[in-house]
Amino acid sequence: MTGGTLLILGTGGHAQSLWETARYSYRRILFLTNDPTVLETQQFCGCPAYYSAENSTRALREPFDAAIVGIGDNRTRLALTHRLFAENAPLATIVHPTAALSAAADVQPGTCILAQAAVNALASVGRGCIINTGAVVEHGCRLGEGVHLSPRAALGGNTVVGDCAWICIGASAAHNITIGENSVIGAGAAVVESVPPNVLAVGVPARVRRSF
Ligand SMILES: CC(C)(COP(=O)(O)OP(=O)(O)OC[C@H]1O[C@@H](n2cnc3c(N)ncnc32)[C@H](O)[C@@H]1OP(=O)(O)O)[C@@H](O)C(=O)NCCC(=O)NCCS
Repeated sequence: MTGGTLLILGTGGHAQSLWETARYSYRRILFLTNDPTVLETQQFCGCPAYYSAENSTRALREPFDAAIVGIGDNRTRLALTHRLFAENAPLATIVHPTAALSAAADVQPGTCILAQAAVNALASVGRGCIINTGAVVEHGCRLGEGVHLSPRAALGGNTVVGDCAWICIGASAAHNITIGENSVIGAGAAVVESVPPNVLAVGVPARVRRSF
């Protein structure tokens, strides 16, 4: 245990994964949610849960040492991460004890690395990213802010991923690839050529299916 009290914003699926990831390193976990049904119990995963329609930390009645946004949607998670940062809330970086995080990687606050994921040497990962269960970020990769690597997604060495891109479950990218901001790489895809911003690319090999 290294941390005191962690605040997780959200109570959806990603918040649940964050709780599982963080409970090895924080003594106490609180939730803040805009889901009114949580009001009925004021508990979530056995932890205190507070309600705020605006996700405002002013709704809390107890202090916290660090905070992280547990919302799966990339843009929402990044916007709330920026808001916490602007409010001077200390942002947490949460790493599961079974994840392999290189001492030479740069992982920014507000990002989580879930069980059995790997982030290799000289990789950089921006604020508000999710490196999900078993995902791989190879050496020298550069991930922007608000990126989500779903479970078992894998990036070869020196791959660059723009802000808020989503690499879906089991998708992979070869080395030296660029994936543009906001783009979505469908489940199981194999990216062997760079993908522009704001597109959905699917298949093996991955092809652009449509633009946003
Ligand atoms: C990529 C994804 C998000 C796209 O969803 P969407 O925007 O609703 O896209 P659509 O379902 O409208 O699909 C558009 C087309 O692409 C195809 N397509 C979508 N995802 C595909 C995939 N992974 N592989 C191959 N084709 C795919 C669809 O069959 C559809 O083809 P059609 O126009 O011939 O019918 C979704 O398909 C996906 O892969 N989800 C996985 C999510 C995930 O990783 N979850 C884990 C979270 S922890």
